[in-house]
Amino acid sequence: MGAAIMPMLKPAPPSSILAVAAEVRARRARGLKTLDLSVGDFGADHRAPLPLLEASIRALCSGQTRYPMPVGQPELREAVADLYAEEQGWRPSPESVLVATGARPLLFATYSAAFASEEAQHQVVLDPVPSWSTDAYARLAGARRIALPTGADSGFLLRAEMLDPVLARARVLSLCSPSNPAGTTFTEEDLGAICVRLHDENRARARRGDQPPVILLWDQVYWQTTAGDRCVHPLALVPELASCTVVVDGISKAVAAATGLRVGFGVAPPGLHQQMRDLLDHAGTWAPTPFQAGVAALLRDRAALDLARSELKADLQSRRMMVIEQLRALGARGLPIEVLAPEGGFYVAARLAWRGESDEQARRRLLERGGLAAVPFSAFGLASSGWFRLAVAAPSLSELASLGGHLHRAFDEAPPHG
Ligand SMILES: Cc1ncc(COP(=O)(O)O)c(C=O)c1O
Repeated sequence: MGAAIMPMLKPAPPSSILAVAAEVRARRARGLKTLDLSVGDFGADHRAPLPLLEASIRALCSGQTRYPMPVGQPELREAVADLYAEEQGWRPSPESVLVATGARPLLFATYSAAFASEEAQHQVVLDPVPSWSTDAYARLAGARRIALPTGADSGFLLRAEMLDPVLARARVLSLCSPSNPAGTTFTEEDLGAICVRLHDENRARARRGDQPPVILLWDQVYWQTTAGDRCVHPLALVPELASCTVVVDGISKAVAAATGLRVGFGVAPPGLHQQMRDLLDHAGTWAPTPFQAGVAALLRDRAALDLARSELKADLQSRRMMVIEQLRALGARGLPIEVLAPEGGFYVAARLAWRGESDEQARRRLLERGGLAAVPFSAFGLASSGWFRLAVAAPSLSELASLGGHLHRAFDEAPPHG
C-alpha cells in the first residue's frame, strides 16, 4: 500500500467559473439583463430521459433505498464495461470499474492515489492548457504541475512532440477529449502519437525499475456528445496502456439534465484501483442506489439510450451552430472575432478580446457593456490568449439567439488601445 490513504490537502483556488456565475446572479438581482454563457449545465429546456427516471423510481419504490456497494452496484459496473466494449473498442473487466457521485471524486481520487507514494511525490502532472480544473486537483494532491500551453492551430489540444522535454519527469498526463473548454477531439493520428510516446516511456521505466509509470488520466465525460460516431480512445489504439490508464466518465454531460443525480464512473488499473477505492469508500462518495439502478437500466436499454443520445447530440449541435453563426457574422463585419468549430460538448471557443486587451479587461467589457457572461481561457490556465468559452446548453434558444445583440453592445466603442 502507498504511504498514506489521504495525502496532506493543499488549498486549491476557488473556481473562476463559479465566480463568474455569482456575478451574473448579482447583476440579475439588480435588474440588469444578462446572457449567461458561463456554466456547463443544462437549462429549463431539458428533461432527463424518461426511461432513466422511471427505472430510478421503480428502484426507489421497490426498496432499493439502502447503502449501495461503495465501489458501485454490480449491474452498473457491468453495464459500463459492456458499453465501452461495444462502443469504444476496449473491454475493461467489471471489477476494474469504480462508481462515484459524479466524475469529480474520481478525479480527486486519481491524483491523490497517484501521488501517495514517496517516489511519485518528486514527479509532476503534465497539464495541456486550457484545461478544466487540473490545477485544482493537482494542488489538492500536493502535486507539482507543468502547464503545457496549446493554441488554436491544434484545436487547443496537446501535440505529441510537446511531451519530449517533460515526459521523463511526469507521474500523470491529464487529457480530456472532447475537451473542456474548446470542445475539440483528438484525431487517431495525434492521439496515437501521444500514446506511443507514453508506452515507450513506461517500458523504459519498467526496464530501469527506478520510477513508477506515467499515469494517463483520460477524462471522457463529453464523449457521448461527439458529433457523428467518432470515438478515438487511447486503449483502443494502444491496449498495453491499460495498466497505467485511469478513465473518468459519468452521466453529467452524456444524459440531458442529469447533472444533479450525481452518477460518475471510471476504470482504474490494478496499481491504483485499491487506493482510489479506499479513498472513495472513506469519503463516502457513493452514488445513490436508485440512481445507479436507473443509469444501469438506461445503459442496458440500447434503443432508449440511442434515442436519448441522438436527441441530446442534435440539440447541442444546433445550439453550437446558432452561436457559431452569430459569431461568424460579426467577424465577417470586421469585428476581431475568431471561432473554433467544436466536435462535441457544451462549448464554443471564440476569440473576443481586442488586440492589447487583457482577458480580464475583455471579460469585464463583455459583461458590463454587453451583458454577456463568458469564461476566458485564463480561467482554464492559458494566460492572455483572448479566447473565451461560451457554454451553450443552459440558456433558452431565444436567449441564445440574442448573442449577436449582446456582442454588438460589447464591441460598440473603439478598442481601448486605438
Ligand atoms: C472535463 C470535465 N470533467 C469532469 C467534470 C465533472 O463532472 P461531474 O458532474 O460528473 O462531477 C466536468 C464538469 O464540468 C468536466 O467538464
